[in-house]
Amino acid sequence: MSPTFSDKARGASRILGTGRCVPEEVITNEDLEKIIDTTDEWITTRTGMKRRHKVAEGEATSDLAAVALRRAGEDAGIELTDLDAIIVGTASPDMPFPSTACFVQQHLNLPGIPVFDISAACSGFIYGSTLANSLIAAGQFEMVAVIGAETLTRITNYQDRSTCVLFGDAAGAAIFGPSDGERGVIAAYIGADGNLSHLLNMPGGGSREPATHETVDARRHFIHMEGSEVFKSAVRAMESSAKRAIEIAGIRLEEVDLLIPHQANVRIIKALTSRINIPPEKVYINVQEYGNTSAASIPIAFDEARELGIVSEGSVIVMVAFGGGFTWGSLVVRL
Ligand code: ACO
Repeated sequence: MSPTFSDKARGASRILGTGRCVPEEVITNEDLEKIIDTTDEWITTRTGMKRRHKVAEGEATSDLAAVALRRAGEDAGIELTDLDAIIVGTASPDMPFPSTACFVQQHLNLPGIPVFDISAACSGFIYGSTLANSLIAAGQFEMVAVIGAETLTRITNYQDRSTCVLFGDAAGAAIFGPSDGERGVIAAYIGADGNLSHLLNMPGGGSREPATHETVDARRHFIHMEGSEVFKSAVRAMESSAKRAIEIAGIRLEEVDLLIPHQANVRIIKALTSRINIPPEKVYINVQEYGNTSAASIPIAFDEARELGIVSEGSVIVMVAFGGGFTWGSLVVRL
C-alpha cells in the first residue's frame, strides 16, 4: 500500500522554532590528507566537502541535541516544560539503550513526558517530523520537539578513505506546535526498502554481531558503505519522494521557495536538482561546511536558512532525505 497523507494531517502542525548545535573542532580536507591517502582536490570534486565538525573528548550525541533543542525553544519563545514529547532521529546514539531522547530529557530536566528515538539514519528528522505532525493531528499531543543529532565521527573508520572524508557531527531541532490555519506541514511522505540494508550499515554491536574482540579487530563497529550504489539510489529516491510530496501538497514547483536536500554529497544534490528541474538558487547547500551529518543535516540547514533570511513567514520549503535502510522521505511546510 502506498503511504497517504490524510486531510486531518494536512496543516495540523507548524514549526514554531528551530535551533542547531555544531561542535567547535573542525576537520579540514588538509587534516585528512595527513592521515589517509587522499587530497583536498579529490574530496572537493567528488563530494563538495571542505570541512566537517567533530565533538570533543567525552561529548555525546545527546549533549549536542540538548543544546539544539534549548535554542529551538528560545527561538519559538516557549518554555521547554510546555513540550508534550521529544523525538530524536539518530544513527549514532549515546548508547544502544536507553534512547538518546532519554538523555536529552535528563539534560534539560523534563521528566514525565514521553521521549523516544527513531532509527531511520539520514532520514531520521523527516521520519520524526512526519510522526510529530501525525501525533498532533490525532490530538494526542500539542507540542512536539524533533531533533536530528549525530556524532558520526565516533563510528567513522579513519582507515577507510572512501567513507572517512564524508561524515561530521552536529544536531538540529525543530518544535512543532498547533497550526494557525494557512501555515504548517502541507505534505509528508516517507518510505523504506530493507532489501538494500547491506549497502549502508554498521554491522557490529547489535544482536546479529555482538561485540567481541574479533568484531573490534575487524572494524565492524564503524559505518560500512558501498558508495556508488548508495549514490545512485539516493538520487532516485530523493527525486521521487520530493516529487511525490510536492504532488501531495497540491502545489506547483514554481511555488517552492527553497529545497533543502539531505547534505550527503554536492554531486547527489546537483543530480537531484536537475532531475526535479528546480533552479539552483532555490536549493540550499552547506555540505562544504559540515560534511554529511546524517539526521542533523536537514534541521541545521533549515535553521541556517531561517537565520540568513533566505526563508521567512509564508515561504514554502521542501525537505528531502535519504539514508541507510534504505529510508527516504520528504516534508513540505509553509513557514
Ligand atoms: N581520496 C582519494 N581517492 C579515493 C578516496 C579518497 N578519499 N575515496 C575513494 N577513492 C578512490 C577509490 O579508491 C577509487 O579508486 P580506483 O578507481 O582506483 O578503485 C576512486 O576513488 C573512485 O571511487 P568511487 O567510490 O567510485 O568514487 P565515487 O565517485 O563514487 O565517490 C563517494 C565516492 C563520495 C563515497 C560517493 O559514492 C558518494 O557520495 N556516495 C553516497 C554517499 C551517501 O549518499 N550517503 C548517504 C547516506 S549516509 C548515511 O545514511 C549515514
